[in-house]
Amino acid sequence: MSEKPSNLPVNSDRLWGTILETAAFGATPKGGVRRLTLSQEDRKVRDWFKAACEAAGCTVTVDALGNMFALRPGRDPSRAPIGLGSHLDTQPTGGKFDGILGTLAALEVVRTLNDAGIETEAPLCVANWTNEEGSRFAPAMMGSAAFVGDFTVENILGRKDAEGVTVKEALEAIGYVGAAPVGSQPFEAFVELHIEQGPILEAENKTIGVVEHGQGIVWYDGHITGFESHAGSTPMPLRRDALATFSQIVLAVEAIARKHGPDAVGTVGEVTIANPSRNVIPGEVNFTCEFRSPHAEILKALEADFAAAVTEIAAGRKGVTVEIEQVWRKDPTHFDPKVIGAIREAAEGLGYSNRPMVSGAGHDAFNLATRMPVAMIFVSCKDGLSHNELEDATQADCTAGANVLLHTVLSLAGV
Ligand code: GLV
Ligand code: MN
Ligand code: MN
Ligand code: MN
Repeated sequence: MSEKPSNLPVNSDRLWGTILETAAFGATPKGGVRRLTLSQEDRKVRDWFKAACEAAGCTVTVDALGNMFALRPGRDPSRAPIGLGSHLDTQPTGGKFDGILGTLAALEVVRTLNDAGIETEAPLCVANWTNEEGSRFAPAMMGSAAFVGDFTVENILGRKDAEGVTVKEALEAIGYVGAAPVGSQPFEAFVELHIEQGPILEAENKTIGVVEHGQGIVWYDGHITGFESHAGSTPMPLRRDALATFSQIVLAVEAIARKHGPDAVGTVGEVTIANPSRNVIPGEVNFTCEFRSPHAEILKALEADFAAAVTEIAAGRKGVTVEIEQVWRKDPTHFDPKVIGAIREAAEGLGYSNRPMVSGAGHDAFNLATRMPVAMIFVSCKDGLSHNELEDATQADCTAGANVLLHTVLSLAGV
């Protein structure tokens, strides 16, 4: 049995090299990344990831939703693997770190163990989850949601993007319809490393966030029907303006989130006018809306307040109807004390300053936590900025996160 290498570091330059190399898949002129899930750019980074995992001695399987699993055998094949990883897709104007850092750091853990000749007791399994971002197909965290049984595979395969392309067609187009049944990959536990995507670690000058909880999320699709008519000749009292109604809803969302204090956020992120023209009163508007809170009771209050506000706004607008459909709901997540403890101990053992955290962003780890022991590691990103091409993180912080991932995994898997 090999001895536990208490200070073994990952190869920082190799990790950083893979971050820069993979940022070329979907690189944007402003220095960000556009790698929408199941796009050709996604195919390229997936092919790269598969080849890199195989070169590191792993066996790669793909399931029917394109979730990817790279298995590194352990000494005790009767144990389920310790999972580590994140996602390779990005927002339409995303950065070089959101998602891929967790997957590349997981690959780096495998490479470091190979270099050091260390075999773990439990096997390890590096994962890439399909469509974490949710910007091409809803819901976000789709692959891991189906993996834990929150949605059927058929339901997910039929989801359409804005062009009407289904998940099934998009998977076929990039050759990532795998043979493994969704949910069949066993895990003993799962650890996800991610940039914080918020300002706390940077402001407090802490290196590692030990993530203990995740915010609950509700997503809505909204549809407002008024009536299109002439902008010059329709008197103000006779108008049935869908966009003016929409503007009241946007302000209501902001007011509701503010009312519930710092542990609540609300966003209207998308809007389309059906037949926009500068001299036509908008008759049809479609929009999205979301609320988040780490507290179940606040999330429920946000939902109730939003429903009441929509009813009141619609009642005050003669001839305009507002329909709201809740398309996704995820209760707040509470991570596993043992995995949280392993992360904290790893950070302490390596001498990194750390603090407990709540995740503001959604992560595949939230879904997985309903079926297995899970926790997350955060590292800081510049100005707390994410979902933006200017998203940035330092080599030192990414390396620290990968080192904590390595030692958390060693402690959970056993050496
Ligand atoms: C996905 O990145 C989300 O948190 O919405
Ligand atoms: Mn992410
Ligand atoms: Mn994201
Ligand atoms: Mn996310």
